[in-house]
This record gives sequence, C-alpha cells and structure tokens, in this order.
Amino acid sequence: MTKEKIVLAYSGGLDTSIAIPWLRENYDAEIIAYTADLGQIKDGRGIHNKALATGAKKIYLEDLREKFLKDFAFKSLAANALYEGKYPLISALSRPLIAQRMVEIAKKEGATALAHGCTGKGNDQVRFELTFKALAPELKIIAPAREWKFKSRNEEIVYSRKKKIPVSATKKSPYSIDKNLWGIAIECGVLEDPWKEPPEDAYQITVSPKKASDREKYLEIEFRKGVPVKISGKEEQPVALLEKLNKIGGENGIGRLDIMENRLVGIKSREVYEAPGATILYNAHDALEGLVLDKETFHYKRLVAERYSQLIYNGLWFSPERKALERFVDETQKRVSGTLRLKLYKGNAIVVGRKSPLSLYQENLATYSEKDIFDQKSAQGFIDLYGLPMKIEGEMRRKKK
Ligand code: ARG
Repeated sequence: MTKEKIVLAYSGGLDTSIAIPWLRENYDAEIIAYTADLGQIKDGRGIHNKALATGAKKIYLEDLREKFLKDFAFKSLAANALYEGKYPLISALSRPLIAQRMVEIAKKEGATALAHGCTGKGNDQVRFELTFKALAPELKIIAPAREWKFKSRNEEIVYSRKKKIPVSATKKSPYSIDKNLWGIAIECGVLEDPWKEPPEDAYQITVSPKKASDREKYLEIEFRKGVPVKISGKEEQPVALLEKLNKIGGENGIGRLDIMENRLVGIKSREVYEAPGATILYNAHDALEGLVLDKETFHYKRLVAERYSQLIYNGLWFSPERKALERFVDETQKRVSGTLRLKLYKGNAIVVGRKSPLSLYQENLATYSEKDIFDQKSAQGFIDLYGLPMKIEGEMRRKKK
C-alpha cells in the first residue's frame, strides 16, 4: 500500500492532537496539519510547534478572519439566518471555510485524504465532510474519532502521554469550547444537565448582566448594502468591527444564549453560546430591513431565513440551493443601507433609532397629526374586497341556521 498523505483539521486540542500519531500508525500516513485562525488563536507559535512536536510533517496556520466574516458570517447576517430562530451559527459557518481551504491545500500538496477530529455524534463532522465531498469528491475522508477505541477523555489522555504529546500551556477548561469572531459555543461538563443553570465560569466573553454597567451605552451601526461598515460614524474593517462589538457587547452582558438544540443527527443537546457582536448586528440589521424593505419582500425573506439557517446548520453551504438563496438575499440587500442607533443595557441591545436614504417610511401617511395626507375613504373599498370571502361565508352560515 502506498503511503497516505493526509491533510488534518488541527486545533491543537486533545482530539486533533492524538489524531496525528493515531493516523500515522493506523494509515501509515504522513500528516499535514491545517489550522485556521478565525479569531480564537492566542498563541500561533505554540500551535505550530505543538503540531510538529506531535508528529505532523508540516503545518499550515492561516489567518482567515476577514474571509470568514465577509464570505460566511456576513452572508448569514444578510439572510438573518438563526437556527431554530436563535442560534447565530457560530460553528456551522466556520467549518465549510476550513474544509474549503483544506481541499485547496490537499490539491496543492498532492494529498490522498482529508481528516478531521469530530466524533460521530455532532454536526461538525457533517459540515466538514459535505464540503469535502462537494469540492473534492475524489479524496478519501478519514474520521479518526469515529474509528478509534478510546472510550473517554481519560483514555485519550493516557494515549497522548504514551505518545509524548506536549501538553498545552493554556489552563484546561472543564468545557468544550469552539470560538471564533462570530461567537463562542460552550458544551460539556455540568452543562449537560439542562435543568442546571450554567455557572458563571462557563461564560468566556460576556459579563453577567447583573455585573454590567448601570449606565446605558449608546452606539450607532451603519450598514452598506447589508454589510456593517461603521460603528458610531467610524469606518471599520470587518475584523476590527467584530472585535470592537464583541468587547462592548461583552461588557454589557449581551448575546448569552442557553438553549436546547436539535442536531442534524437527531440528538438533542443543551447549548450555551455567547455572541455579543453578532447579536448587536442581528438586531440592527433586522431593524434596518424593517425600514427599507417593502412588506412582501420583508415577509418572504423571513421564510428564506429559516431555510437558509437549516442549510448552514446542516453543512450544506456549498449546495446549489444555498447559492441560489444567496442570490435572492443579495438582491434584497441592495436597499439595506442606513444607520441604527442602539442602546446597550444589561444584556440587551435595543434598537432605539433608525434612518436610511432608502427608507420606505412616510410620516405623512403614518401620522395621526395634521400632516396626514392619507385618504380615509380609500380604506372602505379596500376592506369591502379584502373581506369579501369572509362576508360570503358569514352569509352562508346565517342562511343555514
Ligand atoms: N451545536 C453547535 C453547532 O452544531 C456547536 C458546535 C460546537 N462544536 C464543537 N466542536 N465544540 O454548531
């Protein structure tokens, strides 16, 4: 058998670390580690060195923060996509991008296979593999964590010691954490009991609303064609924009979620998330659409948002359906330019003002003051026709009696 050359999605954590010696032993393989910085990396050098010390032949560590926001997170924001109406798809948006880059590197390196450290119970395995299948159907896919015999984290630790895998310098958290600029997903430990309130130490980037400032904090967000571009009048690049909003939002206790979630594989799980920046942006973006989109487009777009969120959640980013819906969303966003004024206060990001050159709001139609130009008489004919089916059915019922 010829030697495999495997590109492995590598985070530096326990699972993806033991995957390196495990793959080398079980597949007689050479490993190329791949790590994307989506805003979670503190010590890139450390990860680089650890991958090599663990037995990878080579590691690619790339800063994909801007691409992640522009090409993935902002697309989801434009659609107002929230899985099951709540989850801003933090992890779901990241996997297709990571997988896409892994495919590109695999082609460049002449690799024979792609691997990831996900178990068989989660969504992330599906997101990786559907992307691999769409972009490189010819490459083999290996999921060590679905194959190996380790039954617990403890057994994994024993194996990692045996293989002399360096222990990360960072303090071990009792939680499983997946972080990027769009937010953070926190699982495991005490959180697995849905009745138990998440302890304060589960939260990584937000303060408790109780501890947040008593002073209201005002801020403005400006969108250009559905994309957030300014904070309080100052133009910001995507990465800086999210860093700033995460910071201000976090300080005000904004964006905490504690929800039950239906995984694609059918398992229910209790999920804790923090997404301060994304929450501010979702509130602002939705409010702006309320001002600038016509009624029917606004309504129809809500149906699209639901479907769009499922496609992202289920790993179908590179599907024809998602691309087609993206075109619809892009068309609607041509009008979504304007400014929102928000009040941040103890866990809330409340839109308190909105303006846009493309606003469809007409004060002289909505007003109850003397500025009113609305023709009262036109409403009667409208209701006569709109209510015709109701009237006919009502008459029939009356006759029957
Ligand atoms: N339940 C969330 C999702 O499916 C979070 C997943 C977090 N991933 C992880 N490897 N810890 O998107």
